[in-house]
Amino acid sequence: MTDAANLPQLRSRAWFDNPDNPDMTALYLERYLNFGLSQEELQSGKPIIGIAQTGSDLSPCNRHHLELAKRVRDGIREAGGIAIEFPVHPIQETGKRPTAALDRNLAYLGLVEVLYGYPLDGVVLTIGCDKTTPACLMAAATVNIPAIALSVGPMLNGWFRGERTGSGTIVWKARELLAAGEIDYPGFVKLVASSAPSTGYCNTMGTATTMNSLAEALGMQLPGSAAIPAPYRDRQEVSYLTGLRIVDMVRDDLKPSDILTRDAFINAIRVNSAIGGSTNAPIHLNALARHVGVELSIDDWQTYGEDIPLLVNLQPAGEYLGEDYYHAGGVPAVVNQLMGAGLINEGAITVNGQTMGDNCRGAEIADLNVIRPFDQPLLKGAGFRVLKGNLFSSAIMKLSVISTEFRERYLSNPDDPMAFEGKAAVFDGPEDYHHRIDDPALQIDENTILFMRGAGPIGYPGAAEVVNMRAPDYLLKRGVHSLPCIGDGRQSGTSGSPSILNASPEAAAGGGLGLLKSGDRVRIDLGRGEANILISDEELEQRREALKEAGGYPFPESQTPWQEIQRAMVSQLETGMVLEPAVKYHRIAQT
Ligand code: FES
Ligand code: MG
Repeated sequence: MTDAANLPQLRSRAWFDNPDNPDMTALYLERYLNFGLSQEELQSGKPIIGIAQTGSDLSPCNRHHLELAKRVRDGIREAGGIAIEFPVHPIQETGKRPTAALDRNLAYLGLVEVLYGYPLDGVVLTIGCDKTTPACLMAAATVNIPAIALSVGPMLNGWFRGERTGSGTIVWKARELLAAGEIDYPGFVKLVASSAPSTGYCNTMGTATTMNSLAEALGMQLPGSAAIPAPYRDRQEVSYLTGLRIVDMVRDDLKPSDILTRDAFINAIRVNSAIGGSTNAPIHLNALARHVGVELSIDDWQTYGEDIPLLVNLQPAGEYLGEDYYHAGGVPAVVNQLMGAGLINEGAITVNGQTMGDNCRGAEIADLNVIRPFDQPLLKGAGFRVLKGNLFSSAIMKLSVISTEFRERYLSNPDDPMAFEGKAAVFDGPEDYHHRIDDPALQIDENTILFMRGAGPIGYPGAAEVVNMRAPDYLLKRGVHSLPCIGDGRQSGTSGSPSILNASPEAAAGGGLGLLKSGDRVRIDLGRGEANILISDEELEQRREALKEAGGYPFPESQTPWQEIQRAMVSQLETGMVLEPAVKYHRIAQT
């Protein structure tokens, strides 16, 4: 417990106990007294701890935080702090149009202003649904006051007729069954709904489980806490402990910049491969690194992550779900396996004041079906391959989800096992794809590569999760499930599609995808990390000139003020899709 008398000079004193400015102090005091705190409390020297509340009726994945916050408050009070809860702009992954990713930077901006502009000495970040996690961490990084993240936890496992159904992942399967006429629409809804049986975030290894695991791997959550399912008693317990701990973090002046070092990011990249993490992770972690001022490039994901084996057997790459992951040992068990292979920077400091090594050393795997030992992985080399060429300067492919069907069809040439060629079928945004995918005139066959453009941060504000495209109905009926897909948008972390994603620069920012035409031959060499249109440089140049004269790659008008503001200043997916003017603001609470 914290002894209030030993606390360092608190920034909240500038509001509530400032002898240089008694008039303003009175003004601040009267309004916060109005909320029910006494003058004695506010001037007691107790740290004031914000609870950044991301749960609401609009954010059902995080809604359980409204309950958990009560236990966080108990912990804060027990440790000698004062809790002040406030709302964060809601981000609901599946409900927000045109895409939740558009709002990550908006929630970030809003939270930066709150943390900077109000009398807060530390903050508990309530994370969960996909973009809430990076938005909160990015804001804490920019402001740099002591901060600890609390995951809301995954939903319980979904079940349908004795089989696990994972949120998000089941949708892709259900769509195929519906398209193939094997289920009707009510059956579709029932199957999909079975995957979401309780409060919490998606129970698959989608972007939510990924980002919550990585928040722990970065050292920003209490060890062992990320994977606890939302409804479990242990989740209440760790909420209380998180409240206790943040007060001590203020006393110790332990800040995000102490924790979010390059060593911590490399740990997170490696953990991401071992868990089979989402392709959204590089976008969010690269953004976080930029906001905390750490050098991190898209190539680092291949350099540090590609060779790491897949250890966690969760859907979509594997079989199990969130509850199983927790019972098997969660993040510490994974980190301990990587540590045994010398792949973790053990000295990285975490929110509990201990190192990552000390927190995770000896964390045993409790279920070998769910988490594998390092030397008996589900798959070797489960990270991301970075591709480059005349189509884009970078795009990534998640190696852990390449299916046997895909491998046999495209990667079985004995002379060149990692390369294939095909003819392009090009779609301009998701609407165009939905209208035309089943049109026989496109002549899509097994040798077609599907392209999605106009889906990046500018083309489709926020970047759409649309690159994983299903094959046309007539191919599905013939048993062809996955065609190679490439695009300048994103892919849901719950999709098991072997797509080449996050192509930067996007067509709308002058990228090579804008020059592609349906019917062009394209060569993908996964071995060399290359993707090229097979046409001459001269013709490519002519197309570039022609597109320029026509006014560039067209994209739809903004529908809201924020879409327009973000489009004017957003970086590409490769560099985190951040607001460029925000990047220079580091550690602003100290200046
Ligand atoms: Fe919110 Fe998956 S939709 S966590
Ligand atoms: Mg998603």
